[in-house]
Amino acid sequence: GGGTGIAAMPHIAKGHHKAGNYVIAVIGARNKDLLLFENELKSFCDEVLISTDDGSYGHKGFVTELLKERLESDKKVQEVVAVGPVPMMQAVAEVTRPFGVATTVSLNSLMVDGIGMCGACRVTVGGETKFTCVDGPEFDGHKVDFAELRQRLSAFRSQEKDSIEHHQHRCTCHDQH
Ligand code: FES
Repeated sequence: GGGTGIAAMPHIAKGHHKAGNYVIAVIGARNKDLLLFENELKSFCDEVLISTDDGSYGHKGFVTELLKERLESDKKVQEVVAVGPVPMMQAVAEVTRPFGVATTVSLNSLMVDGIGMCGACRVTVGGETKFTCVDGPEFDGHKVDFAELRQRLSAFRSQEKDSIEHHQHRCTCHDQH
C-alpha cells in the first residue's frame, strides 16, 4: 500500500487474517508523518514492513524494493494486493510478474456517474474494455493497460491546474477582505 491507498488495507488484511492466511503488510509514504494505519494493520497482520521515501521511518526507499526482497527470499507468497498511486501499482505488478505471483490492483480511474453509463472510468484489462466503477475497482495487475490508464488520468491536468489556481486566487482575495 502507498499513500492514502493504505486506508483500504486494514479491511483487506482483516479478511485475509480471518481466512487464516499469513498476512504481510508492506506500506510506504513520502515521510513518517504521512504514513497511515500502521497500528490498525498490526492488529491483522503477521508482519508490517515499512518504507519512507526520505528514510524518516523504516526502509529508505519504496515499497517495491521491500516487496522484491521478500519475493526473492520467500517462495511461499501466493498473492499480492496493491492499493495506492497508479505508478506504484504498476511498479508492483512489474515486480511480481517474473515471480508469477497473482497480483490484484485497485484502480482509481476518473469517475463521473459511477454506475457504468458514462464511460469516464474506462480501462483496458486483458485487451477488454472494463468500467472501473462497476467491473472493479480490483483487477488483475498483470493484465491492466497502465500506459492507457496513466494517459487518461492526465487528460484534464491543465484544467485541474487552472481550477486549483482559480480556487487559490479566490481564497487569497477572500483573506484580503
Ligand atoms: S464512472 Fe461512468 S462508467 Fe464508470
